[in-house]
Amino acid sequence: MNFSFSEEHLMVRDAARDFAQTELLPGVIKRDELQEFPDNLVKKMGALGFMGIMVDPQYGGSGMDTISYVLIMEELSKIDASAAVIVSVNNSLVCYGIEAYGTAAQKEKYLPKLAAGEHIGAFCLSEPEAGSDATSQQTTALDKGDHYEINGTKNWITNGGRADVYVVIAQTDRRKGSKGINAFIIEKGMAGFEIGPKEDKLGIRGSDTHTLQFNAVKVPKENRIGADGFGFKFAMKTLSGGRIGIAAQALGIASGAYELALAYSKQRKAFGTEICNHQAIAFKLADMATDIEAARHMVMKAAWDKDQGVSYDTSSAMAKLFASRIAMEHTVEAVQIHGGNGFVKDYHVERLMRDAKITQIYEGTSEIQKIVISRAMLKR
Ligand code: CAA
Repeated sequence: MNFSFSEEHLMVRDAARDFAQTELLPGVIKRDELQEFPDNLVKKMGALGFMGIMVDPQYGGSGMDTISYVLIMEELSKIDASAAVIVSVNNSLVCYGIEAYGTAAQKEKYLPKLAAGEHIGAFCLSEPEAGSDATSQQTTALDKGDHYEINGTKNWITNGGRADVYVVIAQTDRRKGSKGINAFIIEKGMAGFEIGPKEDKLGIRGSDTHTLQFNAVKVPKENRIGADGFGFKFAMKTLSGGRIGIAAQALGIASGAYELALAYSKQRKAFGTEICNHQAIAFKLADMATDIEAARHMVMKAAWDKDQGVSYDTSSAMAKLFASRIAMEHTVEAVQIHGGNGFVKDYHVERLMRDAKITQIYEGTSEIQKIVISRAMLKR
């Protein structure tokens, strides 16, 4: 057992912390209000290596491990969970998916720009009728010889409007169930591919979420990822890694709220003393600190599993389930500790509370994580 970070890990964490403080904190309230995230911030994250954290340097990536990824995700999420989800989807769902399962030509074509932050990726699985029930894909990918024809609608797509590269899951042969599903790389601008209006969301408002429409989009055969019928397994494997990123995002939201609540409780006075001296507040802080420590261990363990090359389907689901639950609970408590100030935007905790909710929904709801965990337990 070794619970210490390497020098490199600490350097990466400090670089992310510094970037979050100097570049993300100014303007985070405005970005949330206006639902925007400027391209120049994405480019800066690319220049720091945050858009292709685990991508092989051969393809322009940073070549770092999953521990580094979660350290970066936690630091970004403490300040701006919208920035963090842009990073997470690009890294876990798009770059990882292409690097692990794509052809050499796909890696060479797409990874360098994605890793540099020049291009952004989106992962398109969810549909109006298939969010949790991912095998019920209604989007079709008909085999037309030298190309596939894609028809259908995708919903709640993170980076949906601003992405350049879309990994799209679609049904080729319904009779084969999950084995009739394929994954494709679709580029912005392909004929018949339309981006619908932006969703007006509760949280992570800086990141854009759209409905996408595919009307007879011709996708060359070489854009399919993996063998025919591999799309569902591709999605599941990719999402297992994505869940580590979202668990780290939830951890960051919780720890960001905790740090704000702790600092506030040390300066706000009531009944003749700083409120941290009242047990009602001190016990809340103790509960927060304990849960955050537990979540951090679970997130690191899932990242470590991935780095060791052992199965991380269960550890990532557990980390996401737990971290997202405590993020929701403790951001509510952080607002409570701030009292009336917690309810106004300037103090940041109300935004963190709104941002926390999505971590219990996307990349598999908490209920989906329990399905994944309980199935693994019952198989043993
Ligand atoms: N790795 C490899 N293969 C896997 C797998 C994994 N992690 N999970 C399942 N499979 C395989 C199964 O072994 C099975 O293969 P066989 O038939 O060869 O045995 C096949 O896939 C079908 O699996 P299931 O029978 O378990 O499928 P299911 O229909 O019961 O669904 C589920 C399982 C876990 C509920 C799945 O549907 C699921 O994860 N749903 C949630 C989807 C999700 O996370 N959506 C979020 C959208 S993406 C997003 O949010 C991104 C964003 O914008 C931020």
